[in-house]
Amino acid sequence: MKHLVAPSILAANYANLQADFEMLNASDADWVHVDIMDGRFVPNISFGMSIVKVMKELSQLPLDVHLMIVEPEKYIEQFRDAGAEVITVHYEACPHLHRTLQQIKATGAKAGVALNPHTPVWMLENVLEELDLVCLMSVNPGFGGQKFIYNTLPKVRQLKKMIIERNLNTLIEIDGGVGLQNAEKLLQAGANVLVAGSSVFKSANPSETIQRMKRIGRDTLMV
Ligand code: DX5
Ligand code: ZN
Repeated sequence: MKHLVAPSILAANYANLQADFEMLNASDADWVHVDIMDGRFVPNISFGMSIVKVMKELSQLPLDVHLMIVEPEKYIEQFRDAGAEVITVHYEACPHLHRTLQQIKATGAKAGVALNPHTPVWMLENVLEELDLVCLMSVNPGFGGQKFIYNTLPKVRQLKKMIIERNLNTLIEIDGGVGLQNAEKLLQAGANVLVAGSSVFKSANPSETIQRMKRIGRDTLMV
């Protein structure tokens, strides 16, 4: 399967979100990654469902909503109503993960679980069958523009092995510090979805960066 590119809107220009969404709509991007931070699970606050609703109106691409919040089960239906296509909760924030995943799926959204850098992939052993997506955090969640943690690569390989052994189609998403410099390695290790914030929005030509990221592995000569 061809990999997906999901630019992270956290790094966009909030004074003119419309312009950034127009760029994304016309680009090779597959999803828009939307980071929700509550100032409790992570030491930063981003925005809530009313802004996601605005993003849904501006976006022609599916919204991939990453909930970096405590008690995510309280807000799943609201984020789905606001327009989330994929809803990802954190393993570390869900004492009843299995139940929370059923709750996400009951809304019709795709269900994802994110793992912090210190959480081993085998923690998902008994819940993998329930998942549409696993998001491996390659930075400590809370901020854009951080340095990629290289220990993510063996985690991608381990998780890929678990998915293949069980004959599943679970997508592996990588979030944090992803750019043209490490995308190929991640894809070779088994990643399916690349989230990219700063590397896209802080580049001279965001749409071209997305295109180059999308072409990696397909036609390396054009990269
Ligand atoms: C970090 C967020 C990421 C962030 C990635 O907590 O989950 O999605 O936007 O940003 P970059 O690509 O700049 O590391
Ligand atoms: Zn994210």
